[in-house]
Amino acid sequence: MNNVIIGQSGGPTAAINASVAGAYVRAKELGAQKVFGMLHGIEGLVNGNIIDLDIYLSDPTNVELLKRTPASVLGTCRYKLSDASKDDTDYKKIFDVLEKNNIDKLFYVGGNDSMDTIMQLSDYAKDHGKPQCFIGIPKTIDNDLPVTDHCPGFGSAAKYIATSVKELIRDNQAADTRNPATVIVEIMGRNAGWLAASAALSKADDCTGPDAIYLPEKPFDMDAFMKHMKELSDKKKPILIAISEGIKLADGTYVCELGGDVATDAFGHKQMSAACKVLADKLSSELGLRTRTVELSTLQRAASHMASLTDVREAYQCGFEAVNAANAGETGKMIIMKRMMYQL
Ligand code: F6P
Repeated sequence: MNNVIIGQSGGPTAAINASVAGAYVRAKELGAQKVFGMLHGIEGLVNGNIIDLDIYLSDPTNVELLKRTPASVLGTCRYKLSDASKDDTDYKKIFDVLEKNNIDKLFYVGGNDSMDTIMQLSDYAKDHGKPQCFIGIPKTIDNDLPVTDHCPGFGSAAKYIATSVKELIRDNQAADTRNPATVIVEIMGRNAGWLAASAALSKADDCTGPDAIYLPEKPFDMDAFMKHMKELSDKKKPILIAISEGIKLADGTYVCELGGDVATDAFGHKQMSAACKVLADKLSSELGLRTRTVELSTLQRAASHMASLTDVREAYQCGFEAVNAANAGETGKMIIMKRMMYQL
């Protein structure tokens, strides 16, 4: 095997580095001379910012440490390759770096945008008669990649969310019952409700679980929400509801946008936050409720103390299998996880 390169992209997770470790280990087993890392994903590669991972990972102890280190060790980016201009300089720069360093396999750990990048690079290589293979390694706390049963990164974030929601419910129930608070917990996930739904996992013998969960998949009906909250508050008990940051009205307006302009990053992603504040303001002004808002925000992403061992193991395996796939000549594909069905 010639040299290979690995990069990370999008939001960090607790298990993202385990995929780098898995790909590194398998590439070495298959005889790769050098394993490079892109600094800050494809954006770094375009600018020639790559490092030799052997310097650190040739020591097996560091491979083990890396598996358990949360957040993207190589740095991340949200850079998108343009589809329309496959002859533009980004592609030329990338293939120059690959050819100059004798790299013929590229692995990219990320979500939907990263998998687009893998497709684009693979198509470019095919169109231009280039031999390199490009394989995507799934990773996102949002759990919104198609075909795979679930995504590495999701499990650890879900564990963090369920645990945090449990603490918030316990705290709220212990507080002054003469003036109970309504707590609104805002959870990431963009347009996918898996993370917000995982707040339900807080329900156990010692915890009631949230009173309601609002997901982005169902249009948010403000009137129905207010009616529901009135019914709950009439019972004079502490309330906790979980909402996804991406809840939107039937006309597509995000609830967070009702609070003012929502910033858009350089690549067109809306930076959602504070839907919980919009709802809390309405609840206090219209129903006179005492409210408290909690945005779990980036705490739920790398979640160092909550990394799930299953998540880490799966992320490692996906990195490992990505190298096997490229070694078998596959390109323009993403590794997926499928539950094995056994028949007795
Ligand atoms: O894609 C993962 C994610 O954490 C989403 O749940 C969230 O909307 C987004 O990243 C936030 O991205 P950024 O940190 O770039 O604002």
